[in-house]
Amino acid sequence: MSFPEERLRRMRRTPALRSLVQETRLHPANFVYPLFVSALVKDREPIVSMPGIFNLSPKEAAAEAKKAYELGVQAVLLFGTPAKKDAVGSASFREDGIVQRGIKEIKAACPEIVVVTDVCLCEYTDHGHCGVIKGDDVDNDATLDILVRQALTHAEAGADIVAPSDMMDGRVDVIREALDENGLEQTAIMAYAAKYCSAFYGPFREAVDSAPQFGDRKTYQMDPPNAREAMREIELDIDEAADIVMVKPALAYLDIISRARDRYDVPLAAYNVSGEYAMVKHAAASGMADEQRLVMEVLTSIKRAGAGIIITYHALDAARWLRG
Ligand code: PBG
Repeated sequence: MSFPEERLRRMRRTPALRSLVQETRLHPANFVYPLFVSALVKDREPIVSMPGIFNLSPKEAAAEAKKAYELGVQAVLLFGTPAKKDAVGSASFREDGIVQRGIKEIKAACPEIVVVTDVCLCEYTDHGHCGVIKGDDVDNDATLDILVRQALTHAEAGADIVAPSDMMDGRVDVIREALDENGLEQTAIMAYAAKYCSAFYGPFREAVDSAPQFGDRKTYQMDPPNAREAMREIELDIDEAADIVMVKPALAYLDIISRARDRYDVPLAAYNVSGEYAMVKHAAASGMADEQRLVMEVLTSIKRAGAGIIITYHALDAARWLRG
């Protein structure tokens, strides 16, 4: 069959017809909303590099989580800025650390919401790297011990999911083992499995003041040209019992999301990162394009590529727009 019998415009004629054949549908339940909990702010302070996003006190983070939940966004991802940073990120595994306090406040205000926590050292080290330094590089195995302590304190504080973003080898395995040994076998792991060394993290690093003070993250984060290696990273994390695997960033890596979706039958997340967010916000603010349409197109592309879970700073706006 071909033209003139076949006419693809027939099913595009009205909104109801288009809706009937719509292949990809966003839902607020797809979104995870990142929250920045900071020991340095009293209530909330705008993050200049990310318009519309704030550094929050634990109390304000709880209010924000509640707002998200009321809009149908059922998960938040916590990042922390401690009062003091040091060489090994020891503020990251304190029982009364900033993220640990944030978890408790959020769970008290909104017990149903899924609390995910970023597990990494870069927000807590004075040198800004994602692990402890030996010589002039990050030491993999020494970093694992700290990641484990951090993940345990998050889980003990009530996190539902811990999400290691450090890109050390073997971390999912040791975190799973430690959680299980401590009676925390119900705490899930979302692995930042294929995390690329990306310029799109720029605004985030300004938000939590985590830009590396020397060198870069190339010895641990993935090299952008590599796709097959991403499949190996994901496969290893699945073997180490990750419950959810993630591709990050999202937009420049839609092919990686798509390949992972075809290949692995595990829940797949993608992180629509700070630089992707800031680009859209600046384009919209300059009047170059309509913000709502940009955001919905971006988020739809990520879901269409295969990510069922989308971590995005646009979560609350998108949830509002989906409600109409
Ligand atoms: C920590 C971490 C980063 C992001 C999430 N977890 C920064 C980095 O690796 O430099 C980036 C998030 C974003 O850009 O929105 N390792």
